[in-house]
Amino acid sequence: MNQKDTEKKLAAEKAVEEVEDGMTVGLGTGSTVFFAIKKLGERVKDGLKIKSVSTSNASTDLARSFGMEPVSIDDAGIIDINIDGADEADRSFNGIKGGGGALLYEKIVALNSKKNVWIIDSEKLVGQLGKFPLPVEVIPFGYKRVFEILNKYNAAVRMKGDGF
Ligand code: A5P
Repeated sequence: MNQKDTEKKLAAEKAVEEVEDGMTVGLGTGSTVFFAIKKLGERVKDGLKIKSVSTSNASTDLARSFGMEPVSIDDAGIIDINIDGADEADRSFNGIKGGGGALLYEKIVALNSKKNVWIIDSEKLVGQLGKFPLPVEVIPFGYKRVFEILNKYNAAVRMKGDGF
């Protein structure tokens, strides 16, 4: 395992230590959360009783592959702890998220969580946010107008998948 993945795994497993029996747990999306979902699955196999809520189809599939069956956000109620990755973070706990394309669901799960834990590797810890392009999620209906408005603010707007 390379250094980056070792850091992701360490951060993820530390976060999973905060999960206790009976909790409802938000499962974020991305390559860092992979390690958290894997570890949670191991703890569930060892007898931990939790309810989980996923932020993407990818994380739902992953959770299932590790023996968990996420419930829908509507059946989850208040989520005790949400574990997610981030694209960048500073030491004041500001961050950028959504680079993986799950921003809206991640926000909904985060807003319904008592506690949010972001797990990152050392490369993502920055002095000032902004190296990572800020993800903005829009629906297809009227998206060109959103582009026009953002361009007025001199934003270099690019569509995901279009060189981003
Ligand atoms: C998903 O939309 C994102 O918010 C991810 O959580 C974030 O981009 C971190 O992903 P990685 O852990 O894959 O870097």
